[in-house]
Amino acid sequence: LPRDLFGAERRNAPGLAFGDGAALRRLTGSVAAAAGSADATPLIDGTVQAGQARPVLSPIDGTALGSVTEADEAIAARAMDAAARGFPAWAATPADARAACLERAAEAFLREQPRLLHLLQAEAGKTLDDAVAEWREAIDFLRYYAVQGRRLFAEPQSLPGPAGEANSLRLSGRGVFAAVSPWNFPLAIFTGQVAAALMAGNAVVAKPAPQTPLVADLALRLLHGAGVPGSALHLVPGGPETGAALIGHAALSGVVFTGSTATAQAINRALAARDGAILPLIAETGGINAMIVDATALPEQVADDVVVSAFRSAGQRCSALRLLLVQEDVADRMIAAVAGAARELTVGDPGDLATDLGPVIDASAKRRLDAHIAAMARSARTHVSGADPGGLYVAPHIFEIGGVSDLRQEVFGPILHVVRYPASGLTAVIEAIRAGGYGLTLGIHSRIDETAERIADALPHGNVYVNRNMIGAVVGSQPFGGTGLSGTGPKAGGPHYLARFATERTLTVNT
Ligand code: NAD
Ligand code: ALA
Repeated sequence: LPRDLFGAERRNAPGLAFGDGAALRRLTGSVAAAAGSADATPLIDGTVQAGQARPVLSPIDGTALGSVTEADEAIAARAMDAAARGFPAWAATPADARAACLERAAEAFLREQPRLLHLLQAEAGKTLDDAVAEWREAIDFLRYYAVQGRRLFAEPQSLPGPAGEANSLRLSGRGVFAAVSPWNFPLAIFTGQVAAALMAGNAVVAKPAPQTPLVADLALRLLHGAGVPGSALHLVPGGPETGAALIGHAALSGVVFTGSTATAQAINRALAARDGAILPLIAETGGINAMIVDATALPEQVADDVVVSAFRSAGQRCSALRLLLVQEDVADRMIAAVAGAARELTVGDPGDLATDLGPVIDASAKRRLDAHIAAMARSARTHVSGADPGGLYVAPHIFEIGGVSDLRQEVFGPILHVVRYPASGLTAVIEAIRAGGYGLTLGIHSRIDETAERIADALPHGNVYVNRNMIGAVVGSQPFGGTGLSGTGPKAGGPHYLARFATERTLTVNT
């Protein structure tokens, strides 16, 4: 088995060989058979809380998938109080037992593959390969944090000192963590946040995104079924108001948040406005992710990697490529190759294996993207456009804009912006990217090692990819997270993540 940074042995979850027709038919058959109505409800101490239910609609075609009961402020407050009561017992549970719960949950996720994949497709509009990749990532988070946590939280670590003095360092849970997650990885990010906070010994109140409560509800029940006590893990489906109620609650000890930069900033302000203890915020947010392509890059490889980076998951990845910077001398050839590949993409029902881009998540996303396309069509040069496919579908678009600073907002969908730069202009390009303030993913295509190193060293991005696509970070191999406007820096799926959820205390005894 491969070993990680601390020497622990672990293997990532198995994927699916999409070329194996029989295996693919078995999988699609089992996913279809798992379809059925599902509900999400607030769960406090393992007990469903009553409230007003609303239907959850599929972005694919508006079909009702089930219902969600959202937690109002009173329910959110009760969940936080219950978590505060549940914290001491969970914190006192040995790290090995906490890790074993996560590992049993990973087994449950494997067993429940059809239902989880069905919900990822129906509720979040994912293609099958995206759904499988996300399901694997969720399992990887559970196992990775279990392996890491056993080492980090098991025993106090002894530290050196003079004769007659014993020093030790102990990591333990902080208290109640609010875990606030987005809709675009409604299983993997939801599970990763919860698993990390639990492994560190915290009680957790989890708030999934309002667009995707059903898959979160199932994941949470699988965690309970795997032995995580109801008193340690509570669910509050809801929107911004529910999230804000968690952040404002007196029992809060820390927040793990993934979502937009604006929401992270709002949470940061709310935490700063509280009286009392200074609380940690682990924030993983968006980016205006750029790829720099110089004249030595291979056009076919660039075309492949750009199309995957910009358009896979309908561009609804925080890691997705938004800004392609191409050296002027080769720009016409590179843009033509990319545009040609983009025109081959199929937009449609993600249940169809031939589909490359499923729907965007909801009507407001579609409206925002349509407005951006209309504005670009007026002000930029269009390289790829397509008729509106209707519903919540958006065709891939490529626009050429004048400069890096012309794109100031993350555009969360299948729209790529291209900028040409002169051979002498690399420094200016690097400075313009830096000035934007985001630091999530960065792509570099160059056959000159010194150029790639120079760009990677000059920019603060959390995940840099050279001569490949820039999405799909793998747990344990590409710890994921950005800097600046893209987040507070911790790397999900990395060896230092769990410590961010813990307090560290030293004990010095005069022996
Ligand atoms: P969002 O910021 O709108 O919402 C994220 C979560 O925050 C949701 O659960 C939402 O209900 C909640 N929320 C909203 N306002 C709140 C408030 N005031 N207080 C507390 N909670 C609040 O983001 P989204 O649209 O769900 O997700 C897409 C965004 O997430 C994109 O910007 C994307 O780049 C980012 N993202 C980042 C990463 C990463 O790892 N860096 C991963 C996935 C998505
Ligand atoms: N971790 C996800 C990726 O790398 C967002 O694409």
